[in-house]
This record gives sequence, structure tokens and C-alpha cells, in this order.
Amino acid sequence: MAQQDFDFIRQLAYRESGIVLPDRKQHMVYSRLSRRLRALKLSNFNQYCQRLEDDGCELINFINALTTNLTSFFREAHHFDYLERHLVPQWQQRRNRRLRVWSSACSTGEEAYSIAMTLAKHFPPANWDLKILATDLDTNVLDKARDGIYNQEAMANLPKKLLDKYVEPGPKPDEVKLSESLKQLIHFKQLNLLGDWPMQGPFDLIFCRNVLIYFDLQTKAKIISQFRQLLAEDGHLFIGHSETLHNVSSDFKLIGQTIYQPQHAALARQRLGIGA
Ligand SMILES: C[S@@+](CC[C@H](N)C(=O)[O-])C[C@H]1O[C@@H](n2cnc3c(N)ncnc32)[C@H](O)[C@@H]1O
Repeated sequence: MAQQDFDFIRQLAYRESGIVLPDRKQHMVYSRLSRRLRALKLSNFNQYCQRLEDDGCELINFINALTTNLTSFFREAHHFDYLERHLVPQWQQRRNRRLRVWSSACSTGEEAYSIAMTLAKHFPPANWDLKILATDLDTNVLDKARDGIYNQEAMANLPKKLLDKYVEPGPKPDEVKLSESLKQLIHFKQLNLLGDWPMQGPFDLIFCRNVLIYFDLQTKAKIISQFRQLLAEDGHLFIGHSETLHNVSSDFKLIGQTIYQPQHAALARQRLGIGA
């Protein structure tokens, strides 16, 4: 891959997704986009860059190829513990029975289904208006998420109670399928964190985990300030294990391990002597 092709590719990726591709990622870009070259029967990256310029439809495949979609059920389990131990009891006290949670870079859906499994038993649809919005830029991962079909191994570590309640046999012997009752709680939609967001909020909880690492400071700051606008005054924001809002935003206060609240809500908690 010539340097000028890599530069074209990274500028396009940055413009369309906010994803920053430093020089050290050139090998990864090469191997991920080689598949597109083969599919389009192109013999070099220069031709592929030309195709991207001439054919707007290739852009979606380009972005899908470049995203990193690693995820798993109950990844970073401490967030789900916090949800169950601290937020569920708080939310159960509410008069207003509306709950909104957003998994904002949901990949293949494991994060959203883990949220649904944590909340479903506490907030039955007959009594609660619980909705989980799950969005991602990559259209391929969203198709998989909507299907809700996973390899059995992906759920090997889930407690038997959850498996019995929410997991059914899948179409193939080594596959399993998540129950309709869980699926009904989740709306999967394509959304670019870099673009305009149509949602009104307010959200009680936003998961934005393991995606900020791909963005530069300016993009992170813009996204975090938009989260602040959409988050309820007493809402929470969960970010990934290697991410921080330190030097990114002063709108949020760290109240637990990669768990944030809007600044003033966190101060009110302190005054009331409520720990994380
Ligand atoms: C590593 S996965 C994280 C999945 C999940 N949140 C977790 O922590 O397990 C990162 C996801 O961010 C998505 N992504 C990257 N850039 C994005 C953007 N600009 N807008 C929305 N999603 C984006 C990718 O498609 C990918 O599915």
C-alpha cells in the first residue's frame, strides 16, 4: 500500500467515522481492506481508492471493514454489578416508570442483551416502560445483533439462571438464540456518533464503552458534551476500561470505576453522603 493511498484511506475514515488511523495501524488497514479488494476484483489499493471516490456505495463496506467490533456478554462485569446493586434499587423507587438506556457502540449486540438480561426481571413490561436503544456505525454488526443468534461458546460463562430464562436453541447445533422477550426491549439502529443524533432523551444510563479510544480529543469532547445534553440530571455514563474523561470533559464526575455522573448530580450525592 503506497503512503498516498494510506493517507487517502485514513483521511476518509476520519472524516466519515472519527476513527483515527495512526501509521502503526497500516498493517491492520491493509489486511482488513484486502478483503474488499478481492471482493471487487481490484489488483491494488490505488484502484480501491479510486473506487471509493467514484462509487459512494462502497463507503459503507469500507467503514464496516475498518471498525473493530470486539465485544462479549457481560464484558467489564463491574458495570453490570453496579447496575444491579445501585441503579436498579434507585430506579425501583421511582414514581415515573420510564427507563431509557443507550448502548451507543453496541457492536454485535452482546452489551445490549447483557443490559436487558440485568434489567428485565426487575422491570417487567406490564409495570415499566423500559427501552434499550442500541446503536452502532457498522451495519454488518447490527444485522447480527438484530438476529440475536450467537455461538454457544459466547455464552458459556453465563449463569444457568439466565441461560434457562433467556436463551433458546439456535438454528444450528452449536448456536443459541436470545428470547423474544429480551429482543422486544431493544431497538437496534444505525447511528454515527460523529453525526447528528435524532434522539430526544433523557437517558437514565448511557454505555459508551471501548469506542472513545478510536477518536481524537476533539471528537471525544464533542460526543461527551452531546451525551451530557441527552442524559437525565441523575443519569450515569459508563465508559470502557482503558478510557477516561480526564482532560476531555468537566461536565462529568468520576464516581466509580469508569462510571460517571453529571457534575452537579455527583455533588448532590456527596452532600447526601451517598457513596458509589
Ligand atoms: C470495540 S467495539 C465495542 C463494543 C462494546 N461497546 C463493548 O465494549 O464490548 C467498538 C464499536 O464502536 C463502533 N464505532 C466505531 N466508530 C463509531 C462511530 N463513529 N459511531 C458509532 N459507532 C462507532 C464500531 O463499529 C464497533 O462496533
